[in-house]
Amino acid sequence: MNFELTEEHKYIRDTARDFAENEIAPSSVHRDISAEFPAEIVKKLGELGFMGMMVSPDWGGAGMDTLSYVIAMEEISKVDASVGVIMSVNNSLVCYGIEKWGTDAQKEKYLRPLAMGQKLGAFCLSEPEAGSDATQQRTVAELKGDHYVLNGMKNWITNGTKADFYLIQAMTDKSKGYKGISTFIVEQTFPGFEVGKKEDKLGIRSSDTCSIGLNNCIVPKENILGEEGLGFKIAMETLNGGRIGIAAQALGIAQASLEASVKYSKERKAFNSPISNLQAIQFKLADMAVNTESARLLIFRAALKKDANEKFVKEAAQAKLFASKVAVNNALEAIQVHGGYGYVREYLVERYLRDAKITEIYEGTSEIQKIVIAREILK
Ligand code: CAA
Repeated sequence: MNFELTEEHKYIRDTARDFAENEIAPSSVHRDISAEFPAEIVKKLGELGFMGMMVSPDWGGAGMDTLSYVIAMEEISKVDASVGVIMSVNNSLVCYGIEKWGTDAQKEKYLRPLAMGQKLGAFCLSEPEAGSDATQQRTVAELKGDHYVLNGMKNWITNGTKADFYLIQAMTDKSKGYKGISTFIVEQTFPGFEVGKKEDKLGIRSSDTCSIGLNNCIVPKENILGEEGLGFKIAMETLNGGRIGIAAQALGIAQASLEASVKYSKERKAFNSPISNLQAIQFKLADMAVNTESARLLIFRAALKKDANEKFVKEAAQAKLFASKVAVNNALEAIQVHGGYGYVREYLVERYLRDAKITEIYEGTSEIQKIVIAREILK
């Protein structure tokens, strides 16, 4: 076992770090307030190869491993977790599925532009009445000649108003329960596709979240991903990888909270010396550092298992469960270290807390991760 990053991984880390500091940081406060989507930044991420990092170069991707992806995700999310989730959804929830289950024609038409960052993707599983209990899909797809007709509603869709292509889960055969769910590649321009209201969120405000309406939406028959009935398997396997990405997003926030606290504690004086000399502060910094490192190790382990084609369901869930908790705790502690200054926008730590919370909710709540972990260890 070797804990040193390779030269290639260091290069990816440095490239992502430079890009985040120079191109993302300057507008991050403005976008948090205005909830503006970072369209230009996403375009540049595509040019860097960060929107299809693990996709084969044969299909326009960067052909990198999952470790590269989590390293880049941490650096981008450390500066702006909104940008992190946009990147994560395109990479792990959309490109992954089309590359794994798509036909060559689907890959040419949809994966290539997504992987090159020319088009943006979204993943539609959640519904008003199917969140954690994802098997309860109410959206239906009925085959009529050469096309399917989709009806239903999807909720909490990241990249929702901005995406070009959507992976949508819908029931093709209700009698089969979750084995009757199928996945479709749907373009925003297809008839009957309706973009709902954009959500006004607590955090990750410059990422774009909305509901999607499917009102007799016409989807060509050839746009089914895999085959009928494969949808739930596609969604679950996709989310296993997605959870590693969200864990890395949480890690970025945790690391940012730690670094902000170290910096501030060295500058701020109380009782005649920098507060970093106080044990009360040192203990906080020590806990934050240990938890951040532990989260990173869990994430790297999950990524390495995925890259080795080993089963990584438990490892991904553990990484997400732990890293998201560390992100929230570190952000809370960072506010405490900053005192009153931590509670106002002048310093970034209040945003870290708002951004961190969602990592305990999306791509499977912490409670769902515990169910997944428990089932795996009880097998
Ligand atoms: N990996 C692979 N397969 C899995 C799996 C996993 N992690 N979890 C379940 N499955 C498979 C099971 O093996 C089973 O298939 P078989 O019958 O062929 O063996 C099938 O799925 C059904 O599983 P269960 O019987 O365990 O179903 P359940 O209803 O008891 O539990 C669940 C399923 C684990 C709770 C699942 O519904 C789940 O993960 N829920 C959370 C959904 C989620 O993460 N939503 C996030 C929304 S996406 C999002 O947030 C995107 C965004 O924009 C950021």
